[in-house]
Amino acid sequence: MLKNFNHFQEALDKRKEEGTLRVLKPKSEGIDFYSNDYLGLARNKELQNLLVKQIIETPQLLSGSTGSRLISGNSSTVIETENYIAKQHQNPSALLFPSGYNANLALFSTLPTRHDIIIVDEKIHRSVHDACKMSHAKKLKFKHNNLEDLEQILKRQNGNCYIAIESLYSMDGDFAPIQEIAEITEKYNAHLIVDEAHAFGVFGYGLVEKYHLQNKVLATVVTYGKALGAHGAAILSNDIIKSYLINFASPFIYTTSAQDIQWMSVKTGYEFLKANRELSIKLQKNIAIFRQQNLKNPSSENSPIQAIVIPDNDRLKILKETLLNEGFLTYAVFSPTVKEGTERLRICLHSFNTEEEIIGLTKIIKDFI
Ligand SMILES: Cc1ncc(COP(=O)(O)O)c(C=O)c1O
Repeated sequence: MLKNFNHFQEALDKRKEEGTLRVLKPKSEGIDFYSNDYLGLARNKELQNLLVKQIIETPQLLSGSTGSRLISGNSSTVIETENYIAKQHQNPSALLFPSGYNANLALFSTLPTRHDIIIVDEKIHRSVHDACKMSHAKKLKFKHNNLEDLEQILKRQNGNCYIAIESLYSMDGDFAPIQEIAEITEKYNAHLIVDEAHAFGVFGYGLVEKYHLQNKVLATVVTYGKALGAHGAAILSNDIIKSYLINFASPFIYTTSAQDIQWMSVKTGYEFLKANRELSIKLQKNIAIFRQQNLKNPSSENSPIQAIVIPDNDRLKILKETLLNEGFLTYAVFSPTVKEGTERLRICLHSFNTEEEIIGLTKIIKDFI
């Protein structure tokens, strides 16, 4: 009855030997320099109280959705939340998903056909790569943030091209030259799709809105598990794309809708964000304090993600452990997750970090380097 699982065990053993085995650990106590809770909304008591009040007034928010959106799960809460989101972003339409992973799967597995080409930045999130595997389109990569390479690739294509970028990259913490990419996209009659997972909330409603690119971007993905402190995602686009996804996107069609409490917490999160703009100002002040410590890194000036390259898995591990022993929670990204020689400590800054914490963290890193 039992099959031979040797090859699974061998792969796990190899990771263990290399020190890269992934294991699920209970949440650690410590000073948070590793979570995506950039504005502290995931732990904000005032926001939690607002949600509790809504639940007490409308306990049905906790009910199961009972089915997919196309059968019994299309509640008035999800419809209202989508309309609200579309209006907030000044986009004709929004389509909600239970997570950003699902939203990217839906978009890239559905829109490009077998005759099309998906051109992705080489550092695009894994969800886009997984979606490309589900799609029949051809996938090509362009060098990270490299406009010339993108243009060279576009020049050689005959078919319909989709370009996939993040506005703020999660591993290097650097911005895409989004305005220039939008121009190139237009020049070659291609379609631009922007993932704003890490920019949404940190920079208002994201960089597509900041630079007024709504008309130049086919679809924008905003996610709610990071700066909004909730969970879920929306695809912002036009009515045709929304309707097409509702009709043809398997990750949207063949799954039970989330409970209303998820959609309600997204809407309440938007309202809270609008009423508490000082949180992103505080975050920028903390980023500035970090940058003043002059640690050499590839990240952008005002990015909440700051990567410190420690090009050796063993040394990186020691640094991470040293920081942990002093109470600092950071995230180490080892090769092969990133290219060998570019292993890094990924530091996320938050509105709630104190100056003392930031200086304490950077002092240990400086001493180690
Ligand atoms: C750039 C990017 N896109 C998409 C996702 C997936 O979003 P979610 O965590 O909501 O599934 C993430 C985060 O994990 C991300 O960093």
